[in-house]
Amino acid sequence: MEVFRTAESMRNWSRAQRAAGKRIGFVPTMGALHEGHLSLMRVAVQDNEVAVASIFVNPTQFAPHEDFDAYPRQFERDAAMCEAAGIVAIYAPMASGMYPENFSTYVLVEKVSEGLCGGSRPHFFRGVATVVTKLFNAVTPDRAYFGQKDAQQCAVITRMARDLDMGVEIVEMPIVREPDGLAMSSRNAYLSEEERVRALCISRALFAAQARMEAGERDAACVKAEVLQAMDEVTVDYVELVDADTMRSVETIEKPVLLAVAAVSGGTRLIDNIKYTPSESLVRVER
Ligand code: PAJ
Repeated sequence: MEVFRTAESMRNWSRAQRAAGKRIGFVPTMGALHEGHLSLMRVAVQDNEVAVASIFVNPTQFAPHEDFDAYPRQFERDAAMCEAAGIVAIYAPMASGMYPENFSTYVLVEKVSEGLCGGSRPHFFRGVATVVTKLFNAVTPDRAYFGQKDAQQCAVITRMARDLDMGVEIVEMPIVREPDGLAMSSRNAYLSEEERVRALCISRALFAAQARMEAGERDAACVKAEVLQAMDEVTVDYVELVDADTMRSVETIEKPVLLAVAAVSGGTRLIDNIKYTPSESLVRVER
C-alpha cells in the first residue's frame, strides 16, 4: 500500500492507474476508522480495479469552538485497517499543503446544505464541499463512497458532483450500527459509559418512528413530536423530516423522506437518521 502526502504525487499515481485501464474507487475519511468506514472501503475495493482512501482531518469544516484539536488521530492504526480492507493507496495530505497561505477559493452548495446540520453548523458544508472537491481533484476517482450516516453530506456531495460536472459517481452506503443500535461514529470515543447508554434513546426513537410510518402514519408533525419525546435522555439539537432528495421539510410523508436528528450527550454532538419510502400499498387512492 502506498501513502501520498501531496496532490501532485496522488494525481500522478491515479494517472498511471487510469492509463493502465483501471477504474478508481475512493473513500474520503477523517481517520479514526471504524466498521462504518470499513464497510465503504470493502465495497470500493470490490467494485473497482483499485481503491483509494483519504485520511485528513479537515480544519475548514470545524468552527473555532468545535473539536478539531481533540479529534482522534491514529494514522498507523488507520493505515493498517485500510490495508486489511484491500485499499492500495492512502492520500493523507498535510494541512499546509491543502490550505496554503492566501487560500481563497471555496465551493458553496446552496439550498440542500441549508437546513439540518447546515443550520446548526453554518461553516460546515462549505468546508466539506471544498475539501471533497480538492480530494476529488487529487484522486480523480471514477466512484466515491459516502455513508448515509451523514445523509445531508451525501445529498450535498451528490448535488455538487452533478452541478459541477465532476464525472464522479457518488455511491451512498447504509449506516453501520453497534449491536445495540448506536450508529458508529469516530466521535463515540468521546462518550463515557453513562453518556453512551443515554445516547441509545436516539436510535430507539428513530426505529419507533420507522415502525409508526410503516404502520401508515403520514403526518410529519406527529412523527417528529414522538421522536422528540423519545429522545428524553439527550439534549436535542434538531428533529426534522425532510424530502430525501432536496432536504426540504415536508408536512406529509408521501415521497421518500429522511428523518434526521442531532443531539448532544455529555458534551458530544451525535447525528443519526433513517430513510423511509412509503410503500405503494399504504398510499391512499382517491376514487
Ligand atoms: P468521516 O466522519 O471520517 O466519515 C467518512 C465517511 O464514512 C463518510 O462518508 C461517513 O458518512 C461514513 N461513515 C461514518 N460513520 C458511518 C457509519 N456508521 N456507517 C456508514 N458510514 C459511515 O464524513 C467525513 O469524514 C468528512 O466530512 C469528509 C467527507 C471526509 C470530508 O472531510
